Amino acid sequence: MKVWKNVLSARDFSKDDYLQLFSLARKLKQGKSLVLNKNVALLFFEPSTRTFNSFKIAAEKLGCNVFGFSSKEGTSLLKKESLIDTARMFLNYGADCFVLRHKKAGASLYLAEKIDKPVINAGDDSHEHPTQAMLDLFTIWEKFGKIDGLKIGILGDLRYGRTPSSLAYALLNWKVKLYFIAPETLQIDKRNDDMEYFLEEKKANFEKTSEFKQLLNELDVLYVTRIQRERFPDLTEYEKVKKSYAITKQDLEKVKNNFMVLHPLPRVDELDPSIDESPYAYYFEQAKNGLYVRMALFTLILKNEN
Ligand code: CP
Repeated sequence: MKVWKNVLSARDFSKDDYLQLFSLARKLKQGKSLVLNKNVALLFFEPSTRTFNSFKIAAEKLGCNVFGFSSKEGTSLLKKESLIDTARMFLNYGADCFVLRHKKAGASLYLAEKIDKPVINAGDDSHEHPTQAMLDLFTIWEKFGKIDGLKIGILGDLRYGRTPSSLAYALLNWKVKLYFIAPETLQIDKRNDDMEYFLEEKKANFEKTSEFKQLLNELDVLYVTRIQRERFPDLTEYEKVKKSYAITKQDLEKVKNNFMVLHPLPRVDELDPSIDESPYAYYFEQAKNGLYVRMALFTLILKNEN
């Protein structure tokens, strides 16, 4: 059985690990009560609504003390204090675990190498968001009762988004057909990162396309993502793609009965609110599941911490 400690990349977890997490998350969602009495430090160097608050509430529901920050404002980060010195301060105050969102890819790995407490990556630049993948997968698993055999489209900003990478890495533990759907400049690309190499190495069943309308009726799951305006080095490139896709209710007229739409949120224009009341909209349930999945994650990690 795995000893749970750091959560740095979705690649680090096996099918059994994910299923262990989901089983506990489901029990917690059904009302199971657990008390950990630990100290959790939330260090968020980038904005967040869902991830920050679901980690915070998850820890509090488990009887933990929560401290840290959700922005640099009001902290000595504005005086250029380093990540490591900041973390050391929270170690002094008794932190048993760190949850880190940072603007630099690899920041969580860096912190995990420097301190002897668990580090959870809550999003590092365009790189990864592994706990988002955990709750995404939990939402799929909960609805279908399985993941094998599903056809899953991942639509949007596959270049600067971090949730598509983590989701794809996690899904490779199952026999799924993946469709990466994006405008050409936002598509997965060997010139920009190693994801496509990884997919090939794992013999993943995947296709790349820029067309989603014809594909929709074949899919079991469509995972829509926002174009990450804030991560474009050149905003003229953003202007060229910003309206390149948008899902409307009309697009879903012929989808499978059991079809589901997911989105890590926040959304902008890519997912029309008219879909919210349809039976296919699972993105708010998905966000809610973040609470139970993060409670389960804290439990698996912190029960081993002295
Ligand atoms: N899905 C997600 O990471 O949302 P936040 O940026 O609001 O945390």
